[in-house]
Amino acid sequence: MSNELDAKWGQPSLMHDPNILANFNARPTDILITTAPKAGTTWMQQILYQLKTGGETEFQLIDDVVPWLEIQRANKSVSEVLESFESLPNPRIFKTHCTYEQTPGADTVNIILTSRDPRDACISFYHHMMNMTDQACEKIGISKPRSFDEYFVQWMEFGAWYRNVASWWPHINDTNVLWLKYEDMKKDLEPALNQIVEFLQWQLPESNKSKVLEYCSFQWMKKHSLKFTHHDENGVPYFKADTFIRKGMVGDHKTHLSSTQEKEILDRAVNDLPGDCLDFLRLSY
Ligand code: A3P
Repeated sequence: MSNELDAKWGQPSLMHDPNILANFNARPTDILITTAPKAGTTWMQQILYQLKTGGETEFQLIDDVVPWLEIQRANKSVSEVLESFESLPNPRIFKTHCTYEQTPGADTVNIILTSRDPRDACISFYHHMMNMTDQACEKIGISKPRSFDEYFVQWMEFGAWYRNVASWWPHINDTNVLWLKYEDMKKDLEPALNQIVEFLQWQLPESNKSKVLEYCSFQWMKKHSLKFTHHDENGVPYFKADTFIRKGMVGDHKTHLSSTQEKEILDRAVNDLPGDCLDFLRLSY
């Protein structure tokens, strides 16, 4: 394992271990779900797992079967994490929030990227923070924002949505990248399933389709929300019961953002992203 880390792997944090990224042995058969936070990562974990298994629902936690690549594990060394990844059979599926530059094998593995309107992602992340248990906040060392306005400033400063989309946009036409939009998947999931199986050269027999659609529906995932939440290494939940699969709506920001905040989000998108990207994301205004 290399000790000297290239700065490109990013700064270490509880959610981001550059050591894992720098030493991960990517395989051409790997599938990486890459998203800015709250763009439907968990949904895509479930979609890919259901497509791969043809409707297996006995797993306890989605992260057990589709691991988060770069998160630090409190009870495992980096070597142990990497060994556990090595022991997984092909095709391995991981989730990541890494930028293009931080993604091991970004130009060789299969990348499935889901993007979401930043206004909705911003609101979704607000609830993500507010629904964290006090124990989790204490453990992670964060305090909840005292107001939505305070949160909004922090979300803009952190800028993960902009960084993620800007880094991946130049690669949208790479042959190993499939870019899907949350809004399209919400409208009709079936075309997205077809795109995914075509991209991965998998099969989706008609006899399995309705099962996969059902298990990936918001209603099914909400009903089985214990499978789609996060725990610490001792099984202590990070989120209040039944909150991680929350509302799953397009346009939820309309009930939360002031017109000034909405404009700030869109203005920054215009500033940070090229015109064709804004058109693609339907953010031009
Ligand atoms: P909301 O908070 O707007 O409800 P991530 O997994 O990247 O953290 O994203 C979480 C968001 O995806 C949440 O959005 C969650 O409700 C939504 N989501 C999860 N499963 C979904 C599904 N099957 N259909 C639609 N949205 C889903």
